[in-house]
This record gives sequence, C-alpha cells and structure tokens, in this order.
Amino acid sequence: MSLEQGQIESDLAKALKAIAATADLDGLKQIKIDYIGDKSPLAKANQALASVDAASRANFGKLIGSARAQVNQEFEKKSAELANVRDSQVLLTERVDVTLPGRRTLKGGLHPLTILTNEISDLFIGLGYKVAEGPELESEWLNFDALNIPADHPARTMQDTFFVQPLEAKLVLRTHTSPVQIRTMLDHKPPLYVICPGKTYRADELDATHTPVFHQVEGLVVDEGITMADLKGTLDYFAKSIFGDEVTTRLRPSFFPFTEPSAEVDIFFNGRWIEWGGCGMVNEKVLIACGVDTKKYTGFAFGMGLERTLMVKHGITDMHDIVEGDVRFTQSFGVGKK
Ligand code: DAH
Repeated sequence: MSLEQGQIESDLAKALKAIAATADLDGLKQIKIDYIGDKSPLAKANQALASVDAASRANFGKLIGSARAQVNQEFEKKSAELANVRDSQVLLTERVDVTLPGRRTLKGGLHPLTILTNEISDLFIGLGYKVAEGPELESEWLNFDALNIPADHPARTMQDTFFVQPLEAKLVLRTHTSPVQIRTMLDHKPPLYVICPGKTYRADELDATHTPVFHQVEGLVVDEGITMADLKGTLDYFAKSIFGDEVTTRLRPSFFPFTEPSAEVDIFFNGRWIEWGGCGMVNEKVLIACGVDTKKYTGFAFGMGLERTLMVKHGITDMHDIVEGDVRFTQSFGVGKK
C-alpha cells in the first residue's frame, strides 16, 4: 500500500466527523472499530509505514501519528461527554424522593371479643384463678342433668338447644359454659378457683341482640367458708376492672337450677342499671353430684355473655358488628392500626 498525504487527511476528517456526529455510547463502539481499531484506515496506514521509502517515512510517521492522536483525543472527549449525559439521565429517571411517606401495610389483630377474653383471663389469673376449658360438643348430662336441670325442666327448652345426631349419643352444642363447672369439680379437688371463657350455642336467629354462636365466661369458686359476700366482692372487682372504677353492682333475686340462692347481677353504668349476668351459691345438689364434701365446702358461680359485655362497655347497638368481621368495626378497637 502506498501512502498519500491527501488520503490520510481525508481519513482523519472522516473519523473526526463520525465522532462528532455520534449521539450515544453504542455508536461510539462502532466508531472504535471503524476508525481506531486494527482494521481502521489510519491503523492500516501506520502498518504501511514499514514499506515506505526511508526519506518520506519520518514525515508520514508524524502525519499518521498526529492524526491517530487527534482521533483518540476526540474519541475520549466524546466518550466522557456521552457518559456524563447518560449519568445525569440515570439520576433523573431513577430519582428517589426520600421525603415520600412509606407505604403502610395493615397489620392483622385480635378480634375485640378475644381481646376482652384475654383481659378477663388476665384479671382473674391475677386473683389466683386458673383458666379451665371444656368441649363445645358436650354431653347432655354435663350440659343439663349434672347442673340439676332435669329432662322435663323448662330450662332445657328455654335454652333452644342444638341437639346433635345421632340423638342416642346424647350430645349437644353446649348452651352455656356451666358444664365446665362440673368438669372442673369432677376432675379436681377443692379449693377451686376457675374461670371458663368459651363459645356457646343456642338456636337463635342472628339479629341486633342475638347470635346463635356466642361467648360466655363462667366463674366457679369452691372452698371452705365461701359466702355470698365473696361472690358480691368478686363481681364488684370484676365489674370495676372491665367497666371502670365508678361502676357498682347489685344482685337481684332470681332462679337457676344449679345455684341456690340465685341472683341476676346488674351493673350501674352510664347512669342506669343494666343486667349483666347470672350468679349464685353452687346448689348443694350439684356439689354432691360432683363428689364435693358439702359439710366442708361451699361455692359460688357466675356466668355472663361476652358479646353482651362488649356491647354494654362500648355502646355497640348491633350484634352484626361483632359477628360480621368488618375491619371498619375492629379498627375502632385499635386492630389493624400502626
Ligand atoms: N348458665 C347461665 C346461662 O347461660 C348463666 C349462669 C347463671 C351461670 C348463674 C352461672 C350461674 O354460673 O351461677 O344463662
């Protein structure tokens, strides 16, 4: 290959023009191959120096050397320029606004009834009670007979029981938590101090004040020298802990087959008397059926609805709110909030 000054100058001009016209870093890669790499015209001219006669070699050497240096210099300049443009674009498109509020995810939480159950359990555990449990599918004998509710007693029909098939198995969905009293007395010797929170069932339609599946908490104490004054004091403490210190209780004579005497317990809350639950001294017949020495021991018991307790405490007027699980209801109890 012979070298010509005009050709070298035109190769240089082409390379510089191509570099100037490149608008992105990908384009520059091709420029490197076409105008700088081993197969580029100026690299080939450089290789051809060896075959040029000695007299003109130095001049061509300088010419080609300076042309290649210029191309390299412009290439580097353009690379730096385009890298800058790319970097500032990245900064713009990937900008993070550190002042934006974080994304909140809702937390799950306990149902208000569970919160109340835990609160009641804690408060009685603090008094030295144990928490007892029994099955929701209960024997008819424990749910009724052992509690002195005979087969023909109106209480059985009053309680709208769900009987479970086969009927010969004599199983019912427990209509109250009172059978846990019997289980406790059959399984353990006095002194007994237990509460039994749990699910209970009655064949009621769901409406503003009823639900076929509801919850009760039962209390049972059997010890030496237990009197109605102990019952009253315990209920007072219980009521004040749940509804507030200003709340007082009163007992109204009533009847339950498993207690004698029996009473309804009312609370004075928000300026009026409200019925809260049932209570009494454990009927001697029940104690005897459970093998308790009635010469030595007496006992008291009480039972109240947890839905009712929650409704009174928080002024809830519709049972549907407790049952249906709408988060707008549970959120007002702090559930699902950060
Ligand atoms: N078991 C009763 C009911 O479901 C409530 C009750 C009343 C429980 C008096 C008791 C009690 O322990 O002593 O209506």
